[in-house]
Amino acid sequence: MLRSHTCGELSLEQVNQNVVLCGWVQRVRDKGGMVWLDLRDRYGITQLLFEEGKTPASILEMARTLGREFVISAKGEVIERIAKNDKIATGSIEIRVSELEILNPAKLPPFLIEDETDGGDDIRMKYRYLDLRRNAVRKNLQLRHQVAKYTRQYLDNLDFIEVETPVLIKSTPEGARDFVVPSRMNPGEFYALPQSPQTFKQLLMVAGFDRYYQIVKCFRDEDLRADRQPEFTQIDCEMSFVTQEDILNTFEGMVRHLFLHVKGLEVPEVPRMTYADAMRLYGSDKPDIRFGMEFVELKGADQDLVSGKGFSIFDDAPMVVGICATGCASYTRKEVDQLTDWMKRPQIGAKGLIYLRYNADGSVKSSVDKFYDEETLRSWIAAFNAQPGDLILLLSGTEDKARKQLNELRLEMGSRLGLRNPEDYRALWVLDFPLLEYGEEENRWFAMHHPFTSPKPEDIALLETDPGKVRANAYDLVINGVEVGGGSVRIFERELQQKMFGILGFSPEEAQEQFGFLMNAFEYGAPPHAGVAFGFDRLCSLFGGADSIRDFIAFPKNNSGRDVMIDSPSTISEAQLKELEISVKPMTTIK
Ligand code: AMO
Repeated sequence: MLRSHTCGELSLEQVNQNVVLCGWVQRVRDKGGMVWLDLRDRYGITQLLFEEGKTPASILEMARTLGREFVISAKGEVIERIAKNDKIATGSIEIRVSELEILNPAKLPPFLIEDETDGGDDIRMKYRYLDLRRNAVRKNLQLRHQVAKYTRQYLDNLDFIEVETPVLIKSTPEGARDFVVPSRMNPGEFYALPQSPQTFKQLLMVAGFDRYYQIVKCFRDEDLRADRQPEFTQIDCEMSFVTQEDILNTFEGMVRHLFLHVKGLEVPEVPRMTYADAMRLYGSDKPDIRFGMEFVELKGADQDLVSGKGFSIFDDAPMVVGICATGCASYTRKEVDQLTDWMKRPQIGAKGLIYLRYNADGSVKSSVDKFYDEETLRSWIAAFNAQPGDLILLLSGTEDKARKQLNELRLEMGSRLGLRNPEDYRALWVLDFPLLEYGEEENRWFAMHHPFTSPKPEDIALLETDPGKVRANAYDLVINGVEVGGGSVRIFERELQQKMFGILGFSPEEAQEQFGFLMNAFEYGAPPHAGVAFGFDRLCSLFGGADSIRDFIAFPKNNSGRDVMIDSPSTISEAQLKELEISVKPMTTIK
């Protein structure tokens, strides 16, 4: 080893010892007769001292030439510091340097390698190896390592075995768009990168592996957001001879284990909610239950407290639904107008926002006073169980749209009211998802989770008559409004699987061509099985208290799916294209 210790471990215990440290120059402070240098490595920072008269003159001179991020080695004696720094672990000592070697000089980095950096997103991504030297980013990757370690520990203890599945697989029409890879040996043919190892883990169950997991890269060519990367990692799991209940308990256990060991937090039993209730109460299949603010329908399936008073917007709408924001009656007209404008942005697309202020003095003021008498407005207050000082916000429209838009408003109000503390964790199982959803554009049914998900046995008859009503044995784990994981009990009989493909619009030949390997396997003794996959990056960012998964991935892609450091994707040479027998249209240059 070139060093005797790291920059994070020395304390008063080692005073008088001779040590050798290696690392990067964080900062040099030259005070004339004395030069101090902060030496940094992954473990921490140690102060080096060079002193006129005590340090050899050539070493002191060399210290003065050192720039930020030079890689150096320093030998010296550990001494007690006069001015201690209780902000760092090594703050009681410093090293009086007697020998110094520059292992490698460094150019001035393009941004400050400090907790608060002056580097924007693009430059940090271009020099990601420098960004990774910063505490904040390094800590995120260390946390990621912990999450992986405790995941493996938990699953290993339960006899799960990690099996690797292939990365070059076959493109299938379901799910998101595939990334494809041309095959040189099979001209004109392509592999696809897996969106998940779904069919392989099912085949491992047929093979008798019983309990499988894999911390595995998945690839999806979809639009990117803060919580979506084109390549991301799943904790992918599957079990045989289990019920949905077994899966929920096993993986609730895993999440608890992770919270305990990674965050030191005891998580209470995870509550459960049906998809139908989640949509009714929160307008979302991934509700953030750190706060209440549940939806109340003034006009809907159960009641109508708004129609027939001449307000055509409410009269014509199939649904009027709202939330009650505690203590917000003091919002000024301007603030409500701003909120209305926020709701009208194209991302949300609300036509307007109706408010009802239940003032602290008990009086009532609403933007629809013209149409509704006080008695009606008070019936709304009662429906919301609002208290003086509260503000009721109402949206109208079709059921789907109104709920979706109100979900955004609820989350925004939750944030404004400080009800979404990232260190307050609330997990939730959402159960009984619909099996199918209808694609209006494509004019056909799609599997809401994936085509291998089993319908609830009691709903199978509805497959013929009312497919939209069929519920699936499918579940999601939601933490703080983030879909952290999802899975289902699987179909394991050929006949039902074939029927499912039929409902999804596959001809028997197409189904056989695309998924024959799986259906054939079902005929050779497939056990009942079920599973789940967790978004590993999302779990890490939740544990790290961040919204974006990017800083928990060592080398992520930007929002256009580019790696700006290695400049990928890129064109390939004519020779490579020729070899692959691929012709591409020459690019037109836009001037
Ligand atoms: P699903 O498609 O729900 O299920 O994915 C499982 C979990 O993976 C995470 N996730 C993502 N994370 C980052 N970037 C993305 N682009 C991305 N897409 C998904 C989410 C999600 O909950 N094979 C099934 C699981 C099963 O049935 O066992 C599957 O892949 O946190």
